[in-house]
Amino acid sequence: MPNSESEAGAETAAQLRGRRVLLVIAGGIAAYKCLDLIRRLRENGAHVRCILTRAGAEFVTPLSVETLARQAVYTDTLALTEDSEIAHIRLGQEADIVVVAPATADIMAKMAHGIADDLATSTLIAADKPTLLAPAMNTRMWRHPATERNRARLEADGVSFVGPNDGPLAEGESGPGRMAEVPEIVAAIVDVLGARAGPLAGLRVLVTSGPTYEPIDPVRFLGNRSSGKQGHAIAAACAEAGADVLLVSGPTQQPAPAGVETVRVETAEEMLAACERGLPVDIAICAAAVSDWRAAAPQDQKIKKPRRGEGQDRGAPTLDLAENPDILATLSARGPKRPRLVIGFAAETEDVEANAAAKLAAKGCDWILANRVAEGAVFGDDENVIHLLTRPGEGAAPAVERWPRMSKAEVAVRLVQCIAEVLSSDAETA
Ligand code: CTP
Repeated sequence: MPNSESEAGAETAAQLRGRRVLLVIAGGIAAYKCLDLIRRLRENGAHVRCILTRAGAEFVTPLSVETLARQAVYTDTLALTEDSEIAHIRLGQEADIVVVAPATADIMAKMAHGIADDLATSTLIAADKPTLLAPAMNTRMWRHPATERNRARLEADGVSFVGPNDGPLAEGESGPGRMAEVPEIVAAIVDVLGARAGPLAGLRVLVTSGPTYEPIDPVRFLGNRSSGKQGHAIAAACAEAGADVLLVSGPTQQPAPAGVETVRVETAEEMLAACERGLPVDIAICAAAVSDWRAAAPQDQKIKKPRRGEGQDRGAPTLDLAENPDILATLSARGPKRPRLVIGFAAETEDVEANAAAKLAAKGCDWILANRVAEGAVFGDDENVIHLLTRPGEGAAPAVERWPRMSKAEVAVRLVQCIAEVLSSDAETA
């Protein structure tokens, strides 16, 4: 951690030097802050290219953007007269990160629905680079269910957000909607780029999180109470430690952590498929509470109760179950794609360590973080008591480390420390 402002500044500069930022400036009063954003990014050694939307040009002039960026600014007019065919492909390809600031309700809606009707939106849909949005809009627009849906959709697509902040708005109202301040946007860019040097820098980590929902019919499912708090905290801590993180999450209320590629799934089979698509990884951490069973034959239509007078002698319906794939065991299986370190969780209601030791052996993973889930404890809580079981060697009994009660965020940080230690001692002995 830097211990002074100047050290923090030096760290930011080291992380941004030579990075290529494509900045999309959309229409909004906050567009004026982008001039300062361009200046700060350039001072830190980043190359900044800008697309100014038609609405954006109502708030800042192409000339001021161009002067600060020291690059021609891309507008629809320029793209039409020059290389309109390929500008939207090339701009995305040549960037390390795409930043939209201010991100208006309109551009968020277009991105969420894949609409590409100008240079900015065509570039956004063609770019396969990490994307960061700094929303700015009236509080009512931000809180509108359509905007909330679009934000959730974009997060599910792996887009990161910074802000909006709470405070007075241009219209004289107050509430969330103010664009994040320039230093916050710069810090978020650094985070998303994963440029932060850290103990897991250069490693790709897969994390599963949340429950799975297994459909019985269109309105009912088999699921569990997992909140996803622990898995999401681990994904965030790994990213914070410099790792390139893929988070595969079942349905949860948790927002996607900044700078983490997040894939949202519903069922165990979808979760396994998303994990397998993400391979190879260096480390896999299975924190999801995967449903062990699914309905053998989910119905296309809602299952109805027998009507009064008919079929009452049939009694309650029975549900045939089929076993779900075990994601942790699948990832732990020997083979060229096996991660170097596979870590599972064990949710136990009794004999925590004995059951966890049996799970470690049965699943073939390297570590198990065991916790007690008796009487609804842990699921949804902010704290956890972990017993870490590791395998000292083939055939040996697992070693157990008992951690004191701590927050799920602290568990995540401690786990990252343990991973960093074991990987660095592996590197020394290699
Ligand atoms: N797990 C998984 N896929 C499954 C079931 C579990 O990847 N189909 C993973 C979980 O993410 C966790 C570990 O296996 O890391 C243990 O999960 P847990 O629910 O404690 O154990 P189960 O294998 O389901 O066994 P049981 O329910 O009998 O305790």
